[in-house]
Amino acid sequence: MVRILIVGSGGREHALAWKLKQSPLVERLYIAPGNGGTALEGTNVPIKDDDLPGIVTFAKEKGIDLVVAGPELPLVLGLADALATESIPCFGPDAYSAQLEGSKAFAKTIMRESGVPTADFRVFDDPMEAKDYLNSIETPIVVKADGLAAGKGVIVAKTREEALAAVDDIMVKKVFGSAGDHVVIEEALRGEEASFLAFCDGETVVPLPSSQDHKAVGEGDTGPNTGGMGAYSPAPILPRADYEKTADLVLRPIIKTLKAKGSNFVGMLYAGLMYTDKGPYVLEYNVRFGDPECQPLLMRLESDLAEIMLACVKGRLKDVEVTYTKKTAMCVVMAAKGYPGSYPKGMPISGIADAETLGDVKIFQAGTRIDNDRTVTSGGRVLGVTALGESLKTAQALAYKAVDKVHFENAYIRRDIGDKGLKY
Ligand code: AMP
Ligand code: GLY
Repeated sequence: MVRILIVGSGGREHALAWKLKQSPLVERLYIAPGNGGTALEGTNVPIKDDDLPGIVTFAKEKGIDLVVAGPELPLVLGLADALATESIPCFGPDAYSAQLEGSKAFAKTIMRESGVPTADFRVFDDPMEAKDYLNSIETPIVVKADGLAAGKGVIVAKTREEALAAVDDIMVKKVFGSAGDHVVIEEALRGEEASFLAFCDGETVVPLPSSQDHKAVGEGDTGPNTGGMGAYSPAPILPRADYEKTADLVLRPIIKTLKAKGSNFVGMLYAGLMYTDKGPYVLEYNVRFGDPECQPLLMRLESDLAEIMLACVKGRLKDVEVTYTKKTAMCVVMAAKGYPGSYPKGMPISGIADAETLGDVKIFQAGTRIDNDRTVTSGGRVLGVTALGESLKTAQALAYKAVDKVHFENAYIRRDIGDKGLKY
């Protein structure tokens, strides 16, 4: 029996807690800091996800056998390294490998070194040089802040003026702080996007099924980008028959390069792909589960998640079976109106239990908290209403049926989640 501490507080972490709780191997489950949903699966502890000393101290005190990192920030700050000094295993890579997500310049350089298909790029640390370069090339062009910028550091510029303004914002005005010390300027690609994630133990890479996120806030992929407004799995653009060859193309070479540099990548490697007319290109890597991709992926996973994660930290991933249902899962995010801008908080939520009586429906909570026995909203993305169906069409119909049973004031959803997959 093991004691597990999950770090994070979103819908992804509720899904992780829900799935880990089902494992007969798990004796105790803690979530730091958690949310109104994780409180139903385990014990929330009031430690922030970037409070590394707080997490390590708590893990030591409670005899934690495995820490599961939800978001990227603690990993980029060195959570796995800090835990390693106390011999506490972490599902999530060390700070060196976490640069794959923490620094776009690092990620692009590793991709180039590993022969992974990615857009042509250049890295600049001087705004004047970046602008001279922009004045010498054609648009559209993509300008990216090097560091973590909460998903907002990428500007796909249609015109040179837009690109020059992006360099000013990032490097001169420092709208993303030190994340803008460097910029990556890269060729704009066109195509459909998909997410491809895999369990890794430093050596073995076991892909999960494909999935697709919906980043834009508005229907038809319009408006500003969010953390993700919905996701489904599988994504027909990346069929099961292609998983192994795609892992050979975009995942295994990276793990091999990192290993050669002395870093064993343990955890979840996530490739954000764009299907161009020349095949899949990598837009970015993340070093953790996607949110909301995690919700449909874990709804489909049949194997014991704790067993898989424990095998990863022991370097024995090849000894476990990872199986998932052939059914399709789809998650619709219910957000607070105004998100990703400012939005109200504290609205009471009703109908969750009622929606779950539909069967094959799970409501994962993200921006919620418990206030005097009531569940109220506390964030922009509030719930991830997730349903399983024989096909994308049935999963989609069930997810929206469940959405219609859940209520809070000023709820906002996209009504077209999954539509892109229906055209296949
Ligand atoms: P990233 O954080 O690098 O995944 O970028 C966020 C979003 O920007 C992606 O999901 C794409 O929609 C878009 N994007 C990033 N890089 C490119 C590119 N080279 N060409 C076109 N769109 C891109
Ligand atoms: N859903 C995109 C991400 O987690 O980065």
